[in-house]
Amino acid sequence: MKPRSPLDSIRLFHDELTALRRDLHAHPELGFEEVRTSAIVAGALQSLGVEVHRGIGKTGVVGVIQGQRCDSGKMIGLRADMDALALTEDNAFAHRSSKAGLMHACGHDGHTAILLGAARYLAQTRYFDGTVVLIFQPAEEGRGGARAMLDDGLFDTFPCDAVYALHNWPALPPGTIGINPGPMMAAADRFEIVITGVGGHGAHPYQTVDPVLVAGHLITALQSVVSRNVNPLDSAVVSVGSVQAGHPDAMSVIPREARLVGTVRTFRRSVQEMVETRMRELSQSIAGAFGASAQLNYQRIYPATLNTAPEANFVADLATQLIGKDKVVRDLTPSMGSEDFSFMLQVKPGAYFRLGQGGADAGCLLHNPRYDFNDAVIPLGSALFASIAERSMPL
Ligand code: NI
Repeated sequence: MKPRSPLDSIRLFHDELTALRRDLHAHPELGFEEVRTSAIVAGALQSLGVEVHRGIGKTGVVGVIQGQRCDSGKMIGLRADMDALALTEDNAFAHRSSKAGLMHACGHDGHTAILLGAARYLAQTRYFDGTVVLIFQPAEEGRGGARAMLDDGLFDTFPCDAVYALHNWPALPPGTIGINPGPMMAAADRFEIVITGVGGHGAHPYQTVDPVLVAGHLITALQSVVSRNVNPLDSAVVSVGSVQAGHPDAMSVIPREARLVGTVRTFRRSVQEMVETRMRELSQSIAGAFGASAQLNYQRIYPATLNTAPEANFVADLATQLIGKDKVVRDLTPSMGSEDFSFMLQVKPGAYFRLGQGGADAGCLLHNPRYDFNDAVIPLGSALFASIAERSMPL
């Protein structure tokens, strides 16, 4: 028998999902330290009769739900992240963080509750022909939890045909979604440039090679990469976020070394490679022209999050049927932020979409100490995940 709609079904246990979400909010854990969170997730899945696998990507949890039939041989992955941030919460409500310096400021508590809501509906109805793999990922915030799950053989053990993930988005109103068929988020790289000169007395600069002066020229020159080398129809950001040289108490010391640290954001691999090459050339040439030397250390942290068009269009169509055309933004502007679901999208087709939660005008921004996940959007998030599974593998 066809179950009632996922949204109507999941609304029936909205209160329980809200309570669970607030409990997770009150007990945040950093990436790869989600011991309590992963135990709660595993316990909730077990109580639903879902097959549970733990220890994939350290604190990662995977749940497997077979459909009423598995004749199609299809397997769909749904992913939520579980980790919090090293940030002190500035909220006063009852479910505020109970841990100083730790906070769910990106709504991963909400994502975990949403996927558990989908799990409950899917485990009760199993109204699909295939297998759903519920991926509860650790350490999205800069620690590469998705990469760790892949390294532990996530898709060897569970060879998904496609993977899907969502992220709450304060800039979109509650009850809406945003997606596009291509780049959703940028690649995030870190660079460090160490400029080495010859230190000496600030009164006798002619006896030194001043790395501070080189740093000044280099900072300016680095901004030419985006404006003069990147095709204006492509996108890139080069930001120097840290400049360190000398000591504030040493006004008449020219230091031996200056250090620049920053980030590069790009969508296309060719642009990323060109930016790195230009940065290396500028660093070496400018330092060399002043008689100094420069070493660029360039690290690729997260790749760009690139949706595959058929899967993104599938989600947009499905959301349109569920909530109406006016609630679905199909051409959402990509963000220069980054996301480690990108590692999964490098090896599987799939889509990443934004779940509107509102609050941006009131200062409820991601990674802000006043942030809180909007519980009102849990059933829609769960229903979207459940519908993706049902419609990808119809009975
Ligand atoms: Ni996040």
